[in-house]
Amino acid sequence: MLVALTGTPGTGKSAVATLLQKQGYTIVRLHELAIQNRCTDGIDKKRNSQLIDMDKLHKYIKKNFTTNDLVFFEGHVAHLLKTMEKVIILRCHPKELKKRLMKKKWNNQKIQENIDAETIDVILCEAVELHPKKNIFEIDTTKKTIEEVAASILKIAKKNFQPTKTYSIGLIDWSEEILEGFPS
Ligand SMILES: Nc1ncnc2c1ncn2[C@@H]1O[C@H](COP(=O)(O)OP(=O)(O)O)[C@@H](O)[C@H]1O
Ligand SMILES: [Mg+2]
Repeated sequence: MLVALTGTPGTGKSAVATLLQKQGYTIVRLHELAIQNRCTDGIDKKRNSQLIDMDKLHKYIKKNFTTNDLVFFEGHVAHLLKTMEKVIILRCHPKELKKRLMKKKWNNQKIQENIDAETIDVILCEAVELHPKKNIFEIDTTKKTIEEVAASILKIAKKNFQPTKTYSIGLIDWSEEILEGFPS
């Protein structure tokens, strides 16, 4: 089973992936995979990072990974790969996300861009364009420890990615945060 582990930067993908890896699960860091296998397409000068060629990456994964194994593909573009059979989106309340992004020591503009993206469900919207809703799961990490997030992911996996009430999409709503910036 090829599983996308995605989410806005700061939601905890890398931290939870490291924990799952320690527990013996197979994790692929998408950005590294893309760079190592030349699935890149120039450099994003503004962000000083390599741009991923999603089409090349999709083809590479299709050719090199078998769907018989449970593999988590970690990265904030993982849901853009149609190769992924299931998609797990980590979510985080914008106020908590701000705290987590501050730890990354990013500049204010980059932090704000990601808070805005999380608030308006950008990743979820992109995911539903490409994947059937029943294959997408959302985990609210706001009040969870990294260990608890890993446990939630494994709970979904162990139930063979059957639809669940707890993690089905559409339950998470940060829209009250949009109004925060407007005077009443
Ligand atoms: N569930 C969590 N609770 C509290 N802090 C977290 C949690 N998950 C991640 N963090 C912290 O938030 C920051 C961003 O996490 P990271 O794993 O780098 O996110 P991502 O890979 O999604 O960008 C790190 O400092 C990490 O330790
Ligand atoms: Mg990361």
